[in-house]
Amino acid sequence: MMRKTLRIFGLVLVLALVAAACSSSSEETTTTAAGGIDESTTTTAAPAAMTDEVEVFSWWTGGGEAAGLDAMIVVFNKMYPNIEFVNSAVAGGAGTNARAVLASRLQANDPPDSWQGHAGQELIGTYVAADQIEPLNFLYDEQGWLEVMPETLIPLISKDGNIYSVPVNIHRSNVLWANPTVLADAGVEIPTTLDEFFTVMDTLKAGGMEAPLAMGEQWTTMHLFESIMLASMGPDGWQGLWDGTVAWDSPEVTKGLEDFAKVLTYTNSDASALAWQDAGQLVLDGSAAFNIMGDWQEGFFRELGKAPQTDYVWAATPGTDGNFMFLSDSFVLAKNAPHRDGAIAWLTTAGSLEGQDAFNPVKGSIPARSDADRSLYGEYLLSAMDDWASNRVVGSLTHGVVANDSWKSEIDTAIGLFLIDGDVAGFQAALVAAAEESG
Ligand code: GAL
Repeated sequence: MMRKTLRIFGLVLVLALVAAACSSSSEETTTTAAGGIDESTTTTAAPAAMTDEVEVFSWWTGGGEAAGLDAMIVVFNKMYPNIEFVNSAVAGGAGTNARAVLASRLQANDPPDSWQGHAGQELIGTYVAADQIEPLNFLYDEQGWLEVMPETLIPLISKDGNIYSVPVNIHRSNVLWANPTVLADAGVEIPTTLDEFFTVMDTLKAGGMEAPLAMGEQWTTMHLFESIMLASMGPDGWQGLWDGTVAWDSPEVTKGLEDFAKVLTYTNSDASALAWQDAGQLVLDGSAAFNIMGDWQEGFFRELGKAPQTDYVWAATPGTDGNFMFLSDSFVLAKNAPHRDGAIAWLTTAGSLEGQDAFNPVKGSIPARSDADRSLYGEYLLSAMDDWASNRVVGSLTHGVVANDSWKSEIDTAIGLFLIDGDVAGFQAALVAAAEESG
């Protein structure tokens, strides 16, 4: 249902974009107060008081994500009342649709002024490699951001001394979300190891729960894959896959893939038809006990008015405690941005303390900046801040940190085939080939 709505929503947005591109008038989509985009009303020409505009492209159209973006737009409007914010978000979890739309716009030399990109290989291996974005060192100097952005993040958004984006947050990918009532009724605890995870899910299945682990469409399978590989291989094993110190044909990868295959046997058969929010909803409803998803899931739960500890609980994905698999959303400045000043204004808001402290508590992420006001954040996010500061940090595959787009897309194809044939040896061979071709 949610997925269908999002699809229609995405389609409307794509059509709106096409219509806007074909028309000589300045019709644009606008942001609603409730979050998201109001595709039913369009504004003709910018109001007279507006002297500039900025078109910002993201995939934050639902869950807590649109609401988080809206909270930051409020700060932007306060900081720059004369610049119109044009929200060109395209629906589709984890950027599945948005990034395709963005790619064709970039190819047609029609870039949005600023767009969402993940820190790491997605940014460096795609947009920097294609010379599509401008360095932002001048803004870092002007705003003193090197003093407040995490040292671990700067290399992931830099190439040859140039810094290419403004990180707005840190998300954690390896989180297990659980329904506390389901666990209590079954007399089981939150599992902390993969073996415990299997045992608990066997108990739930024996009690009549068909699919204890809720999963959604294919990118969420890759999301599950990265968590289980981290659990099975440990942080050195996982990182080694990306820096070349661990071979993809090694026995530890085979073991990881077998564990992943076993985890999949506990998932719902209609996964491919569900968005990540739908999978989260299965946990809230008690139709499933668990979902492994990034902490934007908590933004969604909170937007629904659900309460931590009562409606949902969390832990690191079993077997990954002490490790923080991270990703970071950041915004870039397009080369030849149609509204360069507007884009710089937007990036200034995105990197500001006020912008980050408005956005993150709603989005369900912790701020990239280290000087956030902790009193604004809920229980889960405070625990994420502490873990970010103390855990071993490793990078996400699904969300752009460790592999460039072509490598990730080959892995995605291998996962798609594996979902159909379940052949571990064939899956491993495809992963070996992907690393050879694109790694
Ligand atoms: C990720 C992104 C998150 C969230 C998620 C689901 O790629 O980094 O901020 O948007 O997709 O849509």
